[in-house]
Formats: sequence, C-alpha cells, structure tokens
Amino acid sequence: MKGVVLAGGLGTRLYPLTKITNKHLLPVYDEPMIYYPIKSLVEAGIDDIMIVCGGNHAGEFLRLLGNGAEFGLKHLNYTYQEREGGIAEALGLCRHFVDGDKVVVFLGDNIIGESLADAVREFEHQNGGARILLKEVEDPTDYGVAKFSDDGEIVEIIEKPKIPPSKAAVVGIYMYDSQVFDIIKTLKPSDRGELEITDVNNAYLKMGKLRYSILKDFWADAGASIEAYFDTIRIVREHKLSGRKR
Ligand code: DAU
Repeated sequence: MKGVVLAGGLGTRLYPLTKITNKHLLPVYDEPMIYYPIKSLVEAGIDDIMIVCGGNHAGEFLRLLGNGAEFGLKHLNYTYQEREGGIAEALGLCRHFVDGDKVVVFLGDNIIGESLADAVREFEHQNGGARILLKEVEDPTDYGVAKFSDDGEIVEIIEKPKIPPSKAAVVGIYMYDSQVFDIIKTLKPSDRGELEITDVNNAYLKMGKLRYSILKDFWADAGASIEAYFDTIRIVREHKLSGRKR
C-alpha cells in the first residue's frame, strides 16, 4: 500500500499567514501541520510515501522533512504540482509512484485523533474499489457531504452543499485502487476550476465500489478557515495533553 500526502495549493484562506510560507508548514501546537498526516500514515503501517508540494516555498518541504528519517522512514518521495488544479489533479501526478498498487491519500491539512490502522486493514481486505471516511459534524457545508438512502447506503456525495443532506462530512483521507488514475483522466474541471475528489468518489459510487468507515475521535481540517486553524490547534493541544496525563 502506498501513501500520498497532498500539500499543494496556495492556502489563500489563511492569508497573510501563508504569505511567506506554505500552509502545511505552519505550526499546529508543537509540530508543523504536515507532520500529522505523515505520522498517521506511518503509524498505520504505510512507509512508502509521496509528498505532493505546490505553490510558493515548495523547497522548504525538503528542508523540513528531508528523507523522512524523523518518521522512521528510509526515504520520502516528492513531486510538484504546477498550478492549483484540484485534489484529484494532484493525486493524478502520483500514477507512476503508485504503480498499480492501492493508495491512501491524506490531505496535508487534515488531522485525526485516532489510528488509521483499522480502516487501512479493512481496505486491504476489500476487493478493490474505494473507501472513504465520514465524520458527523454540526455544520458540514464546507465539506463533501454524504447523502444516504433509507437503508443507510450512500447514494451521492455532494461537494459543499448549501443545504446538506446529512451531517456526515467526507474526511480528507481517501483509499483507492489503481483504477483511480483512469477515473481522474475522465474528470472535467468544476465551477471552481478544479478536478474534484468528490467526482472521483461519485464515480466509484456509480460502479458500486465505494465503502466507508466512520471516524470516532476528532477530525480537524486545519486549512478550512482561520477559525478552523485556531480550533485545530486547541483540539490538538488538548488531545496531546490528555494523552500525556494517561
Ligand atoms: O478536508 C476535507 C475536504 O477537503 C472534503 O470534505 C472536500 O470534499 C474536499 O473537496 C476538500 O475540500 P477543501 O475545499 O477544504 O480542499 P482544499 O482546497 O482546502 O484542499 C485540501 C488540501 O488538498 C490542501 O491541504 C492542499 C491539497 N491540495 C489542494 C488543491 C486545491 C493540493 O495538493 N492541490 C490542489 O490543487
């Protein structure tokens, strides 16, 4: 299983914090933001990881992460996304790296409070297709949101709906078989000019190949807004301090 951390984009929602550095290098309590997704992947047993950088200051990733020794890795792979073409476009750059394997994609501004190991194991035993993670949130309008049938099956995922069909937000962690790269090739840019990961997930759904797991502990999208960034630091701090007291 391969791992991909997406750290492209310009981070304009956190401007001016992102004027002279990349969003994913900003501190979240006592570590840079990008440490959290990398550590989650490594903890789940994934040690072959690609970082997709983009925007300005991309060289700083290499300075910070080097060969990944700090995370117990033998090496780290890097690639560069030329423009902010969307999450699916960024993933598309990893086709040769994934090389027919399965892949776990982790958005570089997402942080979770629990191990990813169970979901990764379930995906390993799943007969191909895709697996997403859902988390119930009070206001899901900033996220992809799952719409369910009466018997609890996902029937559609809607990106940033004004009137959400449920409270189940799609977390920025996605598991795919290698068919994902053929799906990405068929995508058209959305109204915001991006290749949307929600379109990828809906394509798997149409083929009857999308499964999901529910996150139990906290989930934070640190890059959604300055308020979300502030809340993330608070939640991560509380989580770490309570762990140290245990
Ligand atoms: O955080 C979860 C949400 O992430 C999902 O619920 C949504 O369905 C999904 O579309 C996404 O929404 P955002 O609008 O929050 O995505 P954002 O543009 O903030 O990008 C998230 C990460 O992906 C960001 O940390 C950097 C990376 N990225 C983004 C873009 C647009 C890239 O690497 N390249 C890109 O071109």
